[in-house]
Amino acid sequence: FGPAQRVPLRRQVRLGAATHQKRLFDAAEPAYAQTFLTHFDSLTPEYEMKIAQLQPAQGQFDFAIADQLVAFAEANGKQVRGHTLIWGNSLPAWLTGRTWTRAELIQVLETHIATVVGRYRGRIPEWDVVNEAFLDDGSWRPNLWLTTIGTEYIALAFQAAHRADPSAKLFYNDYNIERINAKSTAVYSLARSLQEQGVPLHGIGMQAHVTPNYYPSQAQLEAVLSRLEQAGLEGQLTELDVSLAKLTDTPDAEKFELQAQIYQGLVAACQARPGCTRITTWGITDKYTYLGSTGVPLLFDTQYAPKRAMEVTQRIL
Ligand code: XIL
Repeated sequence: FGPAQRVPLRRQVRLGAATHQKRLFDAAEPAYAQTFLTHFDSLTPEYEMKIAQLQPAQGQFDFAIADQLVAFAEANGKQVRGHTLIWGNSLPAWLTGRTWTRAELIQVLETHIATVVGRYRGRIPEWDVVNEAFLDDGSWRPNLWLTTIGTEYIALAFQAAHRADPSAKLFYNDYNIERINAKSTAVYSLARSLQEQGVPLHGIGMQAHVTPNYYPSQAQLEAVLSRLEQAGLEGQLTELDVSLAKLTDTPDAEKFELQAQIYQGLVAACQARPGCTRITTWGITDKYTYLGSTGVPLLFDTQYAPKRAMEVTQRIL
């Protein structure tokens, strides 16, 4: 017999989904939770962990729903991706309805993160710390944090999150960064700058809201993932959906085959790159997607049947 052939361990890319608390706990529609529990390894609260939901009034936190989601995940051996601590959207009126000094808003940012991340210390393994800080041309996206604090808000957010839970992996999250372009290069430069400042950052979340008119090929996504790997960073697809809304005249069989091919390339790219650790679809079923009824962007149809996209995804993962 020759030397034992080391069969490369099949790296496990985890498959996750964004979930809606109302549907997850809807006894009238058990298929939603059942499909999640059967096919997905992690959940991302679609909106329940955003600032407006968790801190509806300054200093008044409401964790009831977030606690339910974390308890549900833990009871079922699933992980939670925390989403998202600092974003320019989903901000409550108490934040947007007045002016702040720089020092005051830094205090607000650090208190929010310390309270939220600290509450789930050791229970939420990954956080999207900052979401969507760039415009497509790679310039800074104006938001409350940038205009009042300056670009330092990003480093401050990551440092606050790390202080609150040193065990959590911290991600920067954005869209249209799934191939080498001005925006993904601006994100890469930010990541390198944070690393040089010693700011804790573990990965980049690529939302991957794509369509037949805009999607990266497998090679294009692998190139972005490879660039991140060279910087010691994980890459994840964090909000994957493939909207077919523009293909209204295309027969179903043809459009769902095209959709499956797009999923195939993205999933294969993630499976091929050691730095790609998780794929999260932005929802479970076409019945409930933030893209509306014509997008039919997800892995399961409105009757919770697996689509061609799920068949090709399962074959790869
Ligand atoms: C969306 C949710 O899907 C909606 O339910 C909510 O009303 C608004 O936010 N990028 C993100 C997500 O990072 O948080 C957004 O989710 C979709 C775009």
